[in-house]
Amino acid sequence: QDEKSLYKERIKQLLIEKNAVLVAHYYTDPEIQALAEETGGCVADSLEMARFGNKHPADTLIVAGVKFMGDTAKVLTPEKTVIMPTLEATCSLDLGCPIEEFSAFCDQHPDHTVVVYANTSTAVKARADWIVTSSCALEIVEHLEEQGKKIIWGPDRHLGNYIQRETGADMLMWQGACIVHDEFKTKALRDMKAMHPDAAVLVHPESPLEIVELADAVGSTSQLIKAAHELPNQKFIVATDRGIFYKMQQLCPEKEFFEAPTAGEGATCRSCAHCPWMAMNGLKEIEDALLDPKGREVFVDMNLREGALKSLNRMLDFSA
Ligand code: 13P
Ligand code: SF4
Repeated sequence: QDEKSLYKERIKQLLIEKNAVLVAHYYTDPEIQALAEETGGCVADSLEMARFGNKHPADTLIVAGVKFMGDTAKVLTPEKTVIMPTLEATCSLDLGCPIEEFSAFCDQHPDHTVVVYANTSTAVKARADWIVTSSCALEIVEHLEEQGKKIIWGPDRHLGNYIQRETGADMLMWQGACIVHDEFKTKALRDMKAMHPDAAVLVHPESPLEIVELADAVGSTSQLIKAAHELPNQKFIVATDRGIFYKMQQLCPEKEFFEAPTAGEGATCRSCAHCPWMAMNGLKEIEDALLDPKGREVFVDMNLREGALKSLNRMLDFSA
């Protein structure tokens, strides 16, 4: 047996012993997604991860993804032990939205409804009226727009620009970005489309608007997987983290998937189609976390929990 299989066998045993379940995001490495599937856990987008952890009867959730996903799980189920392969796995959107500055921004516009993306700290979530993920952002902002609400949107400016374009809502934008999706390049994507005229372009809306404008389908990770499955094309150019290819290829083994270009000739990019923080989730880290949760267990400030829970539940109820 190779090293990976040995890790997997030991993790399977530990999950049973600890009454734990593995909840993984589509951007984690294929072997982690496969392990979550084999062990009765889930592989999902950020909304479904929250929902699954909330409903599952296990005592312990092991969340393979980034910190905001572990925090969300703990806010929703404080009675459970929530552990992560590493607590260092953060997100540029979360880092780019410190609570003091964001709260001061909100204070300047008290007549606005505060809508924040789930990729934020518990403190920012507690300051928000609504939390959204890319699966439900459009419907929630449409709903607020119909009620004539003016919106403060944070932190992802690209997702915000896309939602504003689709809904026509009055939105004041925080200027955050995802370091992975921010790297997709418009001219190179146009060139690639010209090389593969029969390919459909799938784009996560954390990408710049010029990339979104070249898309045949725009949506959250789960919505893009669905589009790959349902569209009749045999080829796809995919503008999101390459971790998603595992599920796309599994569902559509006969189709071909290409990474959207992240940099022109000779250029460098910080995170070419793979999130450096998602990549921190390895089999060894999962085993270590199950053996000794110290330093890998998620705790949230109970004073913030109540506020964050209210807006998280609003999202879960709305998109039920
Ligand atoms: P999804 O909710 O679409 O899975 O997106 C989460 C994320 O962090 C994308 O970068
Ligand atoms: Fe954050 Fe981007 Fe990584 Fe998603 S891919 S976790 S938005 S840095």
